[in-house]
Amino acid sequence: MKLAISGKGGVGKTTLAALLAQAFADSGKDVLAVDADPSPCLAGALGFPEALRARLQPIAEMDALIEERTGAKPGTIGGFFTLNPRVDDIPERFSVSHRGVRLLEMGGIEIGGSGCICPEAAMLKTLFTHLLFRKDEVLILDMYAGVEHLGRATVDFVEAMLVVAEPTRRSLGTAAQIKLLAEDIGLRRLWLVGNKVRNADEAAFLESESPGLPLLGCMPADLAVQEADRLGIPVYDHVQALRQAGQVISERLVDRLNH
Ligand SMILES: Nc1ncnc2c1ncn2[C@@H]1O[C@H](COP(=O)(O)OP(=O)(O)OP(=O)(O)O)[C@@H](O)[C@H]1O
Ligand SMILES: [Mg+2]
Repeated sequence: MKLAISGKGGVGKTTLAALLAQAFADSGKDVLAVDADPSPCLAGALGFPEALRARLQPIAEMDALIEERTGAKPGTIGGFFTLNPRVDDIPERFSVSHRGVRLLEMGGIEIGGSGCICPEAAMLKTLFTHLLFRKDEVLILDMYAGVEHLGRATVDFVEAMLVVAEPTRRSLGTAAQIKLLAEDIGLRRLWLVGNKVRNADEAAFLESESPGLPLLGCMPADLAVQEADRLGIPVYDHVQALRQAGQVISERLVDRLNH
């Protein structure tokens, strides 16, 4: 299963990505979580110990590796470099694993579309395509707000996108924009996931005001989520209600994608 998680800034993309990654790992799946945010924080949300986090570096920032693989220094324009560098060893070499979740930090990815033609883009694009072709793995991509940075070529391989929204019109407005962009690049399987939902009325609001995205599930608003952050404990371990919501959403996803 290849899954991308998007939504407006601060709606809970990383929280959902971490909950789903741990839920799938605990149900026995091989999980690769990919942090595609230029300021990564999925490692923290998953509770990776400091010693493991210290070993992570976003691929986009590995200048020496990019130069070794593409034959050109990152940041250079023009000149020759390979458009399909070797990347098959990268997921294992540069990821770290904790409680059944393997984590890779990509850094800010600008791939496909009209993106720049430079060594680092060639490297990330090739790596991304390679990841999406790996079978029998649950890939969860935690994106930063919007979908503009996802190109047509790569999005073809993402099976589903979850758009996270709070029960507010602004948040749903962004969801509507994401829907248009995602459909424009060929993504058809999109679901809305509500977050910070306080009651049945707010869930009903999300359902009725959704920009044509079926509501897959909702995560409740819970102050313990911020407490977990302060304590440095994964939400999955600290907030029972969120853990359950994540499990329900992961099960529904499997179910929907099998039909
Ligand atoms: N269900 C919830 N109840 C209460 N607070 C929440 C809930 N979900 C997330 N939060 C809080 O909202 C903030 C944003 O969450 P998160 O980092 O998951 O969002 P994001 O969409 O990944 O943000 P960004 O756009 O910055 O990547 C965090 O402080 C988090 O603790
Ligand atoms: Mg985030």
